[in-house]
Formats: sequence, structure tokens, C-alpha cells
Amino acid sequence: MRVLFIGDVVGSMGREMITEYLPRLKKKFRPQVTIVNGENAAAGRGITEKIYKKFLQDGVDVVTMGNHTWDNRDIFEFIDQAKKMVRPANFPEGTPGQGIVFVKVNQLELAVINMQARSFMVDLDDPFRKMNELIEEARKRTPIIFVDFHGETTSEKQAMGWFLDGKVSAVVGTHTHVQTNDARILPQGTAYLTDVGMTGPYDGILGMRREPVIEKFLTALPKRFEVVENGRGLLSGCLLEIDDVTGKAKTIELIQINEDRPFLE
Ligand SMILES: [Fe+2]
Ligand SMILES: [Fe+2]
Repeated sequence: MRVLFIGDVVGSMGREMITEYLPRLKKKFRPQVTIVNGENAAAGRGITEKIYKKFLQDGVDVVTMGNHTWDNRDIFEFIDQAKKMVRPANFPEGTPGQGIVFVKVNQLELAVINMQARSFMVDLDDPFRKMNELIEEARKRTPIIFVDFHGETTSEKQAMGWFLDGKVSAVVGTHTHVQTNDARILPQGTAYLTDVGMTGPYDGILGMRREPVIEKFLTALPKRFEVVENGRGLLSGCLLEIDDVTGKAKTIELIQINEDRPFLE
């Protein structure tokens, strides 16, 4: 099974990159499943139903989320009906939405799990023990399991990668918005990448307008951060090839599209 994963779509520029490049990426790489992290899709904060539906229309199969899941109030109106959306599975018991979703691909199934880390983030349930629970649930149906691990620190993400080696097909990080160059297959067959990177403005700071961010570092005064709304675009993703029978990853390849690294058809 071939899976395309695209990282944190930020604001309208990120959404435009998806509309423009997803059909071209699909034509080139022929993934059977496309997963997109949409936690920043609505002006950098959360997602709306309209944006969720547009992603599906553009060819996205599953939308993963993160710490910004609840930032746009629209989410509460539709998350329980959004069958193709996963939010971090370690949010407290009883939280709306789901932490695992299954996608059918011919006779096969892919389990997609979203989990959030805890270092320098809010104190959610233990993501490691929660993963054990979810893997047990997923394995009753399929050995092909993709994990979007949404976290701040490289150490916690690496720890999760090694913790899950041989138990899932892939552990790919999101949240830091900068793609790391450490894609690899761990010894027991789990593809690992610390962070897949973001999709949206190429010239902002993590997708935000630069001036207020720099000003905040200079003055330590509160500043209002806003998403960059025009200029050069960036798309970050990765492509996974997974063995249908064993669920082990065969390859993981980085994808970066921007003016310095133009897309080749
Ligand atoms: Fe993000
Ligand atoms: Fe995040």
C-alpha cells in the first residue's frame, strides 16, 4: 500500500497548495491513501466543516489534527459526524471526535491514529500507553497502521518511534512545521520521520507573518500572530510504501515543494 502524508496545512495558502498540487502528486506517485494534517487549516487555528469538506473534495482520505483541534468553534458542530477526521486519541475520555479511523483500500484496511505528545505541551493522557491500547484494537482488523504523532520535542517523537518499532507501519511527526531530514525504516520495519513539515506560506515563521514574531522576541510584549496570506507557497509531505501482508514499511521518501525545490511532474 502506498500512502501519501502531507503536514500541517496552514491557512488559505496551505489549502491552495493542496488544491494545486494534490492532483499532481497523485498522478506522479499514485498513492492509494492520502492523509493531511489540518489542525491549522482555518487561518492557522483549527478547521471548519467547509474546509474539511473541501479537503475531501480535493482527494484527501483522512484529516488528522493536533493541539489546535478546538481553536475554531465550528469543530463542535461537525466532528462527531466527520468520519474521516481523527483528533489526538489521548484527549480526555468523553472528548468529541475519534482518535482512530479505518480506511478501506480494495480488500485491505489502513488504520490511521492521531496522538499528541506531552513535553512542552498540555498534559494529556499518556500517549505511549494509549498507543498500546489502540494498536491492539487496530490489529484485530489490519496490520497496516499509520501514526501521526503530534509533538514538540524530537526526543519524545524518537522515543515513540522506537517504542512502536515493529508494532505499526509508520510513525510520522507533525506540529513543529519544519521538515526534518531523518526519514528511515527502523530495524523492525516501522517507517519513522521526526517531523513531516508544514504546507502553506514559504516565507513566514512557521506560517505566521514574520514581523510580529520577531517583535515578540525583541520586546517580550504580547503580539498578535497572523497567518501569511500571500506570497510563495510550500508543501511538505512524505510518501510511504507498506507491505500489504506484514504491514512493515518498505520505503519512506520526503516530499518538499517550494520555489527552491520545484515540483517535477
Ligand atoms: Fe501545526
Ligand atoms: Fe500543532
